Amino acid sequence: MKRVLTYGTYDLLHWGHIRLLQRAKAQGDYLVVALSTEEFNEGKGKRTYHDFETRKAMLEAVRYVDLVIPEDAWDQKINDVQKYEIDMVVMGGDWEGDPRFEILTDYCDVMYLDRTEGISTTKIKRDLGVNS
Ligand code: CTP
Repeated sequence: MKRVLTYGTYDLLHWGHIRLLQRAKAQGDYLVVALSTEEFNEGKGKRTYHDFETRKAMLEAVRYVDLVIPEDAWDQKINDVQKYEIDMVVMGGDWEGDPRFEILTDYCDVMYLDRTEGISTTKIKRDLGVNS
């Protein structure tokens, strides 16, 4: 059983998210998503439309997702990899080279997948004229 882990906010769920989750799951048999909490987002100056429990419920309804866990600190990743016996961490290409993920190569495989062009939560809000 190969276990894959990915991190994200997944606020306004869109096609780019689904493609990322589909390709992440295709790397193994069991996909864990570490989902940022409100407190963690606040620390980053980021505000979500949906609260944590709603975002978690949406992700749990996606067929590629097996388990959703909270992400509430930058430094929890090594612990997550060990606790959930993760073989591979998968992230969108926007994170490539970030030391916070590169350090994980000592513990598991790390793979970056191309982002889907032309869609993001930020773009949806902008296109709808919503102030963030
Ligand atoms: N992602 C992707 N393609 C997109 C948008 C997101 O592959 N067009 C991936 C990200 O790289 C990340 C995951 O989906 O691995 C969750 O991204 P998240 O930051 O929650 O979503 P965004 O839509 O990028 O949100 P924002 O605009 O707030 O950054």
